Amino acid sequence: MILNDLKNKTQNGTLKVGVVGLGYVGLPLAVEFAAKGIEVVGIDLSTEKVDSINRGENYILDVKSDLLRDLVKNGKLRATTDYSVIRELDAVSICVPTPLRKTGDPDISYILASRDEILKYAHAGMLVVLESTTYPGTTDELMVTAFEEKGLKVGKDVFIAFSPERVDPGNEHFSTHNTPKVMGGSTPACMEAAMAVYGLVIKQVVPVSSTQAAELVKLLENTFRSINIGLVNELAIMCNILNVDVWEVIRAASTKPFGFMPFYPGPGLGGHCIPIDPIYLSWKLKTLKYRARFIELADDINTTMPDYVVHRVGAALNDRGRAIKGSKALVMGVAYKRDIDDVRESPSLDIIELLIKKGANVEYHDPYIAEVTTANHKMKSVPYDKESVKKYDLAVICTDHRNVDYALLADSCPMVFDARNALASLGPKPNVVKL
Ligand SMILES: NC(=O)c1ccc[n+]([C@@H]2O[C@H](COP(=O)([O-])OP(=O)(O)OC[C@H]3O[C@@H](n4cnc5c(N)ncnc54)[C@H](O)[C@@H]3O)[C@@H](O)[C@H]2O)c1
Repeated sequence: MILNDLKNKTQNGTLKVGVVGLGYVGLPLAVEFAAKGIEVVGIDLSTEKVDSINRGENYILDVKSDLLRDLVKNGKLRATTDYSVIRELDAVSICVPTPLRKTGDPDISYILASRDEILKYAHAGMLVVLESTTYPGTTDELMVTAFEEKGLKVGKDVFIAFSPERVDPGNEHFSTHNTPKVMGGSTPACMEAAMAVYGLVIKQVVPVSSTQAAELVKLLENTFRSINIGLVNELAIMCNILNVDVWEVIRAASTKPFGFMPFYPGPGLGGHCIPIDPIYLSWKLKTLKYRARFIELADDINTTMPDYVVHRVGAALNDRGRAIKGSKALVMGVAYKRDIDDVRESPSLDIIELLIKKGANVEYHDPYIAEVTTANHKMKSVPYDKESVKKYDLAVICTDHRNVDYALLADSCPMVFDARNALASLGPKPNVVKL
């Protein structure tokens, strides 16, 4: 029986795994499989990434460089741009991007493109697991149907499942291996196949009854974050009107040992997940004539935070008899969150653009990001030290990296807007304004 053959391979060490899309999600997964002694081939369109892996050179912060180099050297991990390798593979995980189009609709073209390439070389006995975050129904509507049209019966000839990726870049405690992984198979046999393969590398695989349920789990998790961040962002706006310190309120509320979970305000949402995933859900519901009101409201508040920050910066300068126009501004941090090198959807990019539009001369510093392209400008990270900081009229702390001494700003810069409470330990300072 085909399913048993696949399961046997998971037991006798002959399983060959492919990972399509070698980014923040795919590369750590590929390394996880390879580190368990499984032969892994990564497939990516980027020759740069493929060549880098084949040279044993890592490019993802969460991946251990020594480990990747050894896995490549020992022949456990290699990469290619050529999908025909699928012919030799038993299990393939798809980890390609799922961004939004300029119109704000889901862009599933990457899933479709990789699916079509996989289909060219698909064969009986293989497992395909979609990991890219997407709207409920994608796996059954776009994957299962296409494999069946090719004459491969899902659940009998091939096995298809959805397993949302939960990786949290920069998290020192939870990585691919020890983050429980939700799995939904298209049929019970698909589920069995997926559990057998992922059970080799993931500490806890959490089964759900369908691919749709698994797709929705991811959207719930990130919608939960988006809405709660939206709530505290609005609380920050209300606290400013009420002249109350929002950070103090959250800190004190967090002492409640039950029924409260702290979320923190900031300059806006960033990354490839939290600002985007809820929109996949609301978009799907829109096609079914239902308006996801919580999602829309949170998105509304979160996406206007960069404007709010720049408005507050302008007000703080005004209080000091100054203006944004003509000022020298330093934006501290362009990564969307601390300790990572990812600028996708980063609110810092919007803040830079807004400050430039208002006439400021803007520079930025980020130890993780040497160069950045905003909507209209290309910039390089500037040096950051006590002397260089003196030349700025204002600084805006957008990202609170742990390896940056933000106290320098409070000592040397006439006005600091702290959108992350990075200077909390200094106590109140006349030149520091908090979100
Ligand atoms: N980054 C995160 O923190 C995170 C966390 C959880 C889930 N996710 C989800 O995982 C998915 C992947 O995200 P990511 O952050 O790893 O993206 P990424 O941009 O870092 O990596 C995607 C990779 O896919 C490659 N690619 C694009 N089209 C391809 C194709 N047709 N064939 C082969 N390779 C192709 C790209 O070159 C890139 O290397 C997305 O759906 C995202 O929402 C991301």
